[in-house]
Amino acid sequence: MIKVILLGFGNVNSSLFNALCRSKEVSIIQVFNRNYIKVISPYESIPFIDDISKITDADVYIIGIPDDAISSFSESLSFKNKLVVHTSGGAAMNVLSSKNRRGVFYPLQTFSKQREVDFINIPICIEAENSKDLELLQSLGKLISKNVVEISSEKRAKLHLAAVFVNNFVNHLYEIGSDILKDENLPFELLKPLIAETASKIESLSPEEAQTGPAKRNDKKTIEKHLHLLANSTHKKLYELFTEQLNQKYGKKL
Ligand SMILES: NC(=O)c1ccc[n+]([C@@H]2O[C@H](COP(=O)([O-])OP(=O)(O)OC[C@H]3O[C@@H](n4cnc5c(N)ncnc54)[C@H](OP(=O)(O)O)[C@@H]3O)[C@@H](O)[C@H]2O)c1
Repeated sequence: MIKVILLGFGNVNSSLFNALCRSKEVSIIQVFNRNYIKVISPYESIPFIDDISKITDADVYIIGIPDDAISSFSESLSFKNKLVVHTSGGAAMNVLSSKNRRGVFYPLQTFSKQREVDFINIPICIEAENSKDLELLQSLGKLISKNVVEISSEKRAKLHLAAVFVNNFVNHLYEIGSDILKDENLPFELLKPLIAETASKIESLSPEEAQTGPAKRNDKKTIEKHLHLLANSTHKKLYELFTEQLNQKYGKKL
């Protein structure tokens, strides 16, 4: 049985809570949140606390709070020599206070409190200062996911950077698409099969092989027309930048 205490109850830790609660080999001893949180049904037996001095004993403490707050929060913990991990892709392991044994338990996925996710295919990127702690994180990760990988802080920073491109930026492009349609009173639903196929395509093709469109074809007339249709100057700049990049990549001049 692995005893876990969750520190913070935002997007990531609430998702981890749901996943870990389903494992018979994990016992969630407490959930700490600086503001009181109502206990989630059917888990009324798990103590949710808002008093940091009441945090008790566990095998691993998982901090799931914004990156900027991790360092000072870990310093404010009153216990010592315990295994304390954070769940960040971008923060190094050593942002954690050295008064505890440090580690990382980074689930590489996008989490929102309103949406439950299945952890089984989510890569859990782990790191720890010593091999015993790494083993414990490995065991904990394997209880919820079939993909647990050891990754250093340096490599994780790059992984996180790549994740920002393929998730956050792509999602922002969805927003731009949605805005363009909104102006014409067209529903975003029209684009959903295209979005789904774009994501599913890269299961069998490389991103390079999957690329299509006017920029790759160097279809100048369509590109000019699109630039003319774009009223928003930032969207126009993005369109030009992407088109230029794709032209360079596929060897055709604009
Ligand atoms: N969201 C994602 O998709 C995702 C994916 C992978 C990894 N991560 C990483 O996971 C970590 C948590 O992300 P998240 O999206 O779950 O964050 P989040 O939802 O914004 O976290 C909110 C939680 O942090 C607490 N909190 C905020 N500032 C605090 C402070 N100064 N001291 C103590 N507690 C504080 C909040 O407490 P109150 O309720 O009291 O305000 C709340 O429990 C981050 O390191 C992030 O980089 C996020």
